Amino acid sequence: MSDLDQVTLNAGEKSVVLPVIKPTLGNDCVDISKLTKETGYFTYDSGFTATASCKSAITYIDGDKGVLLYRGYPIEQLSEKSSYVEVVYLLINGERPDAAQLKAFNEELAAEATVDASINTLIGSFAKDAHPMAILTAAIAQLSGIYHASLDLADAEQRRKAAVRLIAKVPTLSALIYRHGKGLPANTPDTSLDYVSRFLKQTFEAADGSYELNQDVVKALDLLFILHADHEQNASTSTVRLVGSTGANPYASVAAGVTALWGPAHGGANEAVLKMLEEIGSADNVESAVVKAKDKTSGFRLMGFGHRVYKNFDPRAKVIGEMTGKVLKQLGVQDPLLDVAVKLEQAALQDEYFVARKLYPNVDFYSGIIYKALQIPTEMFTVMFALGRTSGWVAHWLEQQVDPEMKIGRPRQVYTGSDVRDYQG
Ligand code: ACO
Repeated sequence: MSDLDQVTLNAGEKSVVLPVIKPTLGNDCVDISKLTKETGYFTYDSGFTATASCKSAITYIDGDKGVLLYRGYPIEQLSEKSSYVEVVYLLINGERPDAAQLKAFNEELAAEATVDASINTLIGSFAKDAHPMAILTAAIAQLSGIYHASLDLADAEQRRKAAVRLIAKVPTLSALIYRHGKGLPANTPDTSLDYVSRFLKQTFEAADGSYELNQDVVKALDLLFILHADHEQNASTSTVRLVGSTGANPYASVAAGVTALWGPAHGGANEAVLKMLEEIGSADNVESAVVKAKDKTSGFRLMGFGHRVYKNFDPRAKVIGEMTGKVLKQLGVQDPLLDVAVKLEQAALQDEYFVARKLYPNVDFYSGIIYKALQIPTEMFTVMFALGRTSGWVAHWLEQQVDPEMKIGRPRQVYTGSDVRDYQG
């Protein structure tokens, strides 16, 4: 890319000089904010493929090189050396905590983990087979019912507290939603445990209060949450920001993010991948599945493949891919779907269609196999994603609240409807 400080756009008789914004890393951005005022033109970019919607210092992705950084730290290093709670602190505060800060943060999350009894009533009102993402959306919206009246968004400490509450309570909501689906009684989180163990125990606890924690499971889940924690301006985070830009409270904003995550083109892909692997059934059927995925008339895509930004490889998929075999071995689980997934990945990576379009496995390709090995039901997979991603959503919401350039998000359109016409008769 050339090193321009400004670009000139010629629009018929008019010409406008547009400044170029220089990021710390990544593509330079042409600032088009005065384009319409000076030329009368809007710009059109369906799906925001070339449009930055905000300035952000949280996460950086280089899709061509397969790079993902949280606050500057490579995801591979965080996956190896950090913990999810440390990553959460890093995302929302900008710097890693020292030992005392990390301890205090863990304690604050534990203290905020319990939820109001009205949440149990709400969850109980859903059918047992209602989709867990529908219940999660409602339960987070219920938090805004509980906390909205007392929340002063102009107060930085209250904003921080709301963010911590969301991160602390979403695992509790998720555990309660799981238990409701299984017909198990509601229970309370064990606040003597760490974040991930607390979630696992509340989810799987037996009627007598017992649950044997397996450190391999705790570690695997912690790593999955790190990989899911943030991914800059993806569809759900952009939704949180769009809702947040209206001045809505963070609980309402995050509830909207959950609904955006649900779709199979986004976080819902982890559920869709497992269903796809089950449908393919055996490694022998992989070839015909690849043929079908290339046929545009089939309506079938290879779920867990492709990404808007990553056009080389998804570094999260690399970490998960390496971890999947290891976790299954540690847990003594033999899953034939892993063979199907491995064969499918190999077949697609050698196929001209996928190579030419730069379609690689994404974070969701293997995560479902691990969740299944951890005995998490398929319909809960996207809830697990939401649990990890809540930290990213609130980090972006917090950042947005103090952004001096923040405006209500309000795109323009290319109107293609009828010209003005008179109402006859
Ligand atoms: N299987 C088959 N073909 C695909 C796939 C796929 N998974 N993904 C993209 N393509 C093809 C498209 O048909 C298109 O082909 P064409 O150029 O011949 O028309 C080309 O590749 C480009 O695809 P687009 O849909 O334009 O790419 P876009 O960036 O809009 O979509 C997306 C990205 C939504 C992730 C897409 O790759 C997809 O649907 N993947 C499957 C769902 C999935 O795994 N989603 C999870 C994403 S990661 C996450 O959100 C956590």
